[in-house]
Amino acid sequence: MDILIATRNKGKIREISEILDLPETRFIGLDSFPDCPDAEENGRTFDDNALIKASQAAYYSGLWAMADDSGLLIDALSGQPGILSARFAGPDADYRDNWMKVLELMQGIPAGKRTARFVCVMCLVGNNNRAFFTRGEIEGTITAEPRGDSGFGYDPIFIPAGSDRTFAEMDPAEKNQISHRALALKKMQHLINGLVPSGLPKT
Ligand code: IMP
Repeated sequence: MDILIATRNKGKIREISEILDLPETRFIGLDSFPDCPDAEENGRTFDDNALIKASQAAYYSGLWAMADDSGLLIDALSGQPGILSARFAGPDADYRDNWMKVLELMQGIPAGKRTARFVCVMCLVGNNNRAFFTRGEIEGTITAEPRGDSGFGYDPIFIPAGSDRTFAEMDPAEKNQISHRALALKKMQHLINGLVPSGLPKT
C-alpha cells in the first residue's frame, strides 16, 4: 500500500522510510499531489498541527497519511520557541536567525539552567479518518555558542543529555538514532504492528 507523507521535504520522506520497517509499503510525498494545498499550521499544540497536516493530506488523496510536527522547548524561556520553532525570529527567519535569537535571550543564564528538549509528534490518519499519535522527546541543554555545521535548525546549539557534542557536531546517522523524530517513528512502528498485525491493507 501507499502512505502519503504530508511534506514536500524529500529528506524527511527518506528519513521516515528508512526508519519505518513496513515491507510492501511505498512512501510518497506531497510532490505526487501538486494541487494539494499547503496545510495551515494554526494549531496550538504539536498534536494539533500534526493532525491538521495528516488529515488534510488523507482527505485530499484518499490515502493513509502521516505527518509530523516538531520543535524545541527551552525551560528558561517558558517552553519557547515551541510550536513557533520554525519562525521564532519572524516569518522570514532562517535557521541562524532563530538560534541567534535563542542565544541572545539566554545570555547570562547559567549552565545548570539551560535545560531543553526537542519534541516530535507523529500523526497517522487511516481509513475512516481515525487518527493515531506517537510522541518522541529528547532532553538536553542549550550551549552558549553555536558548535558544528551538520544537521539543521537548532542543531548547533543543542547538546543531547549524555553527550558532550551538539547535534550539529554529530554524524547525521548518529543523530538519527536518538532524535525525537526517530523515537516517535519507532513508537509509530510498534503502533502499526499492534494495530494491524498482518500488515497495513494492500489498497
Ligand atoms: P517541522 O516540524 O519540520 O516544521 O520543524 C519545526 C522546526 O523545529 C524546524 O524548522 C526547526 O527549527 C526545529 N526542529 C525540529 N526538529 C529539529 C531537529 O532535529 N534539529 C534542529 N531543529 C529542529
